[in-house]
Amino acid sequence: MKTDSKRALVVGGSTGIGLAIARFLAERGETVIVTSRDAGRAREVAAQLGPLHEGLALDLAKPDGIAGQLRGLAPLDHLALVGSERDRNTLANYDIATGTSAVIVKVVGYTAVIKVLMPRFNAGASIVVLGGIARRVGYPGSTSTGLVNGAVSSMAQTFAAELSPTRINALHPGGVADSPAWENAPTPYLETLRSRTASRALVTMANVSHAAAFLFDNPGVNGINLEVDGGFPTF
Ligand SMILES: NC(=O)c1ccc[n+]([C@@H]2O[C@H](COP(=O)([O-])OP(=O)(O)OC[C@H]3O[C@@H](n4cnc5c(N)ncnc54)[C@H](OP(=O)(O)O)[C@@H]3O)[C@@H](O)[C@H]2O)c1
Repeated sequence: MKTDSKRALVVGGSTGIGLAIARFLAERGETVIVTSRDAGRAREVAAQLGPLHEGLALDLAKPDGIAGQLRGLAPLDHLALVGSERDRNTLANYDIATGTSAVIVKVVGYTAVIKVLMPRFNAGASIVVLGGIARRVGYPGSTSTGLVNGAVSSMAQTFAAELSPTRINALHPGGVADSPAWENAPTPYLETLRSRTASRALVTMANVSHAAAFLFDNPGVNGINLEVDGGFPTF
């Protein structure tokens, strides 16, 4: 394994896309700190990545506790904000508690993490924030998802100015077919999505990790919203 001594924090790195990004960074030699709401689970996932990596408990739904949970974290080169609570709210059945929590986790929680870590970014550091194409493609049940991913879009632009020279970019996947979120999706539904994707292939976690690495690494890219969706929707 290569080592280049870079340090990365993946918030929401215990499963799915966050774990895929954590693995990608670990495999190229970065020291990765993964978070979960559960300290034991975070440590377990970190151990699976290898002996250099660390696990940390962090709950984005309780932003007042974030500064304490990140206390003592050494300076970072890369920060991926990936954690989210799945929310299928529709307008007709809008549930205030889950709707509020979705906004707190991704909007207030992500912002609080960045604020706390602002003084702890090394020179050349960069941040990737996960949104999703629900920011522009609506479907029944995307009420909260669309709202919070719209907010993520504006984070990239606003925070790029405030964090300068640290870079921040947002990454918006389409439906990531091999992520746990889709494991029970009916095949006909996946086929419909695929037929409406210009590349005729659904996005994978590897595609998303590759795009995150591009955003982390390219010093000329700052304040952008990158969509990784295979060209969706097309007809
Ligand atoms: N999957 C897709 O098709 C897709 C498409 C577009 C965008 N996205 C976006 O990509 C990101 C990852 O999606 P995913 O499907 O891989 O998610 P996932 O499988 O549901 O994993 C969610 C992650 O977030 C963490 N998490 C949940 N609640 C949290 C909280 N209150 N505080 C801190 N961490 C919390 C979970 O950790 P613990 O449970 O261990 O705490 C887990 O690591 C999300 O931001 C999502 O909106 C996903």
